[in-house]
Amino acid sequence: MKTLILFSTRDGQTREIAAFLASELKEQGIYSDVINLNRTDEIAWQEYDRVVIGASIRYGHFHPAVDRFVKKHVATLNSLPGAFYSVNLVARKAEKRTPQTNSYTRKFLLNSPWKPAACAVFAGALRYPHYRWYDRFMIRLIMKMTGGETDTRKEVVYTDWSQVASFAREIAQLTRNSRL
Ligand SMILES: Cc1cc2nc3c(=O)[nH]c(=O)nc-3n(C[C@H](O)[C@H](O)[C@H](O)COP(=O)(O)O)c2cc1C
Repeated sequence: MKTLILFSTRDGQTREIAAFLASELKEQGIYSDVINLNRTDEIAWQEYDRVVIGASIRYGHFHPAVDRFVKKHVATLNSLPGAFYSVNLVARKAEKRTPQTNSYTRKFLLNSPWKPAACAVFAGALRYPHYRWYDRFMIRLIMKMTGGETDTRKEVVYTDWSQVASFAREIAQLTRNSRL
């Protein structure tokens, strides 16, 4: 049996975190498939004994495909030990990096019919040179207002990889009876 790691990303950071989780799990003898949530037609659920979903925030929201996916597969998701992680830049501040203190994540958990047994919030990446002018302008404005990096030549990865590694250990411990 394998772990299914699904990710929803716009600029790649959530995919990188998914790949990192997979490599950490592999070190513990747990094999995973890492799949883009937007490119899943048929999932061979019978191959998996654990599921992880990761999603990033853009302008205050997860991609609508995340909700659609959860609604479509809620019965299966709730029958498997599951974990959710969210990726955003508010979480670069440690006090906004828990499921309770990160408003996007708190709202997701509150409203989601899927009840994952484990949840984490990771700080994402700021990649000014990759953004279109409007996004660059908006993100810079938000960074200015919140005391973040405003130099648009920079790329900053805020993800704390040791936090991701410890989430992988948590995922490895999940059993059928795990509940959040
Ligand atoms: C256009 C845009 C809008 C964003 N909006 C938010 C936001 O509303 N709140 C937040 O905390 N982070 C926001 N971010 C930061 C992203 O969540 C962060 O860059 C994350 O690493 C993106 O993950 P991804 O590459 O997997 O999509 C935004 C980033 C971009 C490019």
